[in-house]
Amino acid sequence: SARLALVPAAGSGSRMGSDIPKQYLTLLGKPLLAITLESLLSADSIDLVYLLLSPDDSWFRDQVALEHPKLRVLYCGGASRAETVRNGLLAASGAADDWILVHDAARPCLTPAEIDRLVATLQDDPVGGLFALPVADTVKRADAAGRVAATVPRDDLWRAQTPQMFRRDLLSRALAAGASAAVTDESSAVEALGLAPRLVVGPVGNIKVTYPADLAQAELLLTMQAE
Ligand code: CTP
Ligand code: MG
Repeated sequence: SARLALVPAAGSGSRMGSDIPKQYLTLLGKPLLAITLESLLSADSIDLVYLLLSPDDSWFRDQVALEHPKLRVLYCGGASRAETVRNGLLAASGAADDWILVHDAARPCLTPAEIDRLVATLQDDPVGGLFALPVADTVKRADAAGRVAATVPRDDLWRAQTPQMFRRDLLSRALAAGASAAVTDESSAVEALGLAPRLVVGPVGNIKVTYPADLAQAELLLTMQAE
């Protein structure tokens, strides 16, 4: 069976507030999206990388124009991340037992070695799983007035990252079933089927670029990787 990466990159980056989508902003002289793709393309454990763009995306062609024997570009973006991934999975050909690794375009600091580690950890798992990090801060639940309603024990709380890795048949079933639900990652769609994806401790530096301040942090992390 093959191992495919799906990279949803059809978002508009509203929280970043820039005039172009955040995946096309420049980090250390390169488009953020190119950095994410190069990492996946150079991981030995990945056979093909499917880039999922908005149907009206012109930035990739004009400003990135990356070509690679392992790269396939699909203009299949939807209204939500889940819809983009669902469309991409339908368009990407292959076998039912292929492993699918869904990775946010907005996480450029993931290294090929970490991708290989996730694949090696999960490739015999009956369900699949995801990179995630144990919560380090004390966690509060808020009331409607913005005051603390409760302190939530954090010992069993994790923050989900990507890649999230599942077999094609399971992921297709999960995403079809979760079509109407508020599904913000692949794992939650799989959980809704009653399954328990495995949590694999992810890299601390695998941040999602969301707000303007994240750009400088991503550049710092990439610089440290290059040293
Ligand atoms: N994404 C997508 N299709 C959508 C929405 C998001 O492919 N309809 C992708 C984004 O491009 C990003 C990833 O999903 O790579 C994670 O989403 P997020 O960080 O929320 O990006 P945006 O939705 O673009 O940002 P925002 O929520 O601030 O608008
Ligand atoms: Mg979003």
